[in-house]
Amino acid sequence: MTDETDENKTRKNGLYGGVSTELTENMKEGWADTERRHLEPIEQAAHTARRRTALSALFPGELLVIPAGNPKVRSNDTNYPFRPSSEYVYLTGDQSQGAVLVLEPRAAGGHRAVAHLLPRSDRESGEFWLDYHGELWDGRRNSLTENEQLLGLPCRDVRTLTERLAEARGPIRLLRGYDAGTDAALADKVTAERDIEFRAALAELRLIKDEFEIADLRHACRATARGFEDVVGILGTDTPTLERAIEGTFWMRARIEGNDVGYASVCAAGPHATTLHWVRNDGATRPGDLLLLDAGVESRNLYTADVTRTLPVDGRFTPVQRRVYDAVYAAQSAGIAAVKPGAKYRDFHHAAQRVLTEHLASWGLFGGRSVDEAYELGLFRRWTLAGTGHMIGLDVHDCAKARTELYVEGTLEAGMVLTVEPGLYFQSDDLTVPEEFRGIGVRIEDDILVTEDGNENLSADLPRSADDVEAWMARLRG
Ligand code: GLY
Ligand code: MN
Ligand code: MN
Repeated sequence: MTDETDENKTRKNGLYGGVSTELTENMKEGWADTERRHLEPIEQAAHTARRRTALSALFPGELLVIPAGNPKVRSNDTNYPFRPSSEYVYLTGDQSQGAVLVLEPRAAGGHRAVAHLLPRSDRESGEFWLDYHGELWDGRRNSLTENEQLLGLPCRDVRTLTERLAEARGPIRLLRGYDAGTDAALADKVTAERDIEFRAALAELRLIKDEFEIADLRHACRATARGFEDVVGILGTDTPTLERAIEGTFWMRARIEGNDVGYASVCAAGPHATTLHWVRNDGATRPGDLLLLDAGVESRNLYTADVTRTLPVDGRFTPVQRRVYDAVYAAQSAGIAAVKPGAKYRDFHHAAQRVLTEHLASWGLFGGRSVDEAYELGLFRRWTLAGTGHMIGLDVHDCAKARTELYVEGTLEAGMVLTVEPGLYFQSDDLTVPEEFRGIGVRIEDDILVTEDGNENLSADLPRSADDVEAWMARLRG
């Protein structure tokens, strides 16, 4: 369960001069029975059961293996906070490290799902305290029986899994890359091609969100809006605010209301906003700057919002900032309007990018070329840089492994949730744009649920238009 080296463990025990037989015996006894006997299933248990049934129907007669993964070493004996694989979470609702879900084919059809988990630490062997990541150090785990009640599926000791897999006969599909032990145990029994199909199927199942997922994303968006309000609360109007302070303020909201942030927050002051992946966050705002904040709360169930607002730190856009902002706002509005069931996935992207191209043309940035020509040649991309959106869910870029024909070349359906996030980014050293534009970056990003008759903006708690942003900031600052 840990990557810690034996050398490190030995050194730690060595600090106390080793472990005496008396201490070993003493540590085995005197512990109360803490088993919890009547537990209610987790809220999403009925949903995870249905998701497993949908997966089972796609792969009749095959053994399916979906690991949660293991902690990754940050340095020496410290790990990054553990985050289980989205696929495992989707199918179980569980977040245990080192766990593996196995769907065993039944002779009569369908599958029997079994979660393989670490049981409670054995007191007799001393693992609970002699292992630096035993329960005494890292906290109590659920027992297998407790997990059976919570997750609503049979649970087995994961330490017996490798042996069982070695004996497995018949076709097997593995979600690779999360658990080195499982990958090695099945290396001779699976093929890369079949596993890629399996990974795609697991992504495609997640394209349409169920009721539980939509409610959770709604919660993540609401908490995210509160995080943006917290940030406005610390933004100096005539004094600098550190990007790190902005990052930390948002993160506090994410930790209080959710699990974490769903991705590294972009806290980009002034010209940093033109760097799309600005996560260094080592600068500071200056009076008169825009702040581009792209941040999302990941809920306790691990669904993440993905929201961007571009805010004038002193509360008012300058005329040139507003000109750029209004162009992005018009593009985003056109993009959102194109999100509806039956539309091609790419429609919202084209709608938004077309509006941006029209504005860029009106500012004379394509020389003598027409809007049509500039659009055809993709010349707008010098300043729009990125695509207009993506699915969200358990991953910020959700369902990324789905087949092209079902995702980017597919059709929108009710229950899909995607971002609409056009932007304009004028680099400080771009000599092809008027000087007053240089160093301005604007993105507006919302999380849009496709409904039966159109869409719903899940992040609508935050204002979008320039006027509404200014009024909102003024209100928050009292
Ligand atoms: N925050 C990542 C994205 O907008 O795609
Ligand atoms: Mn996004
Ligand atoms: Mn984003």
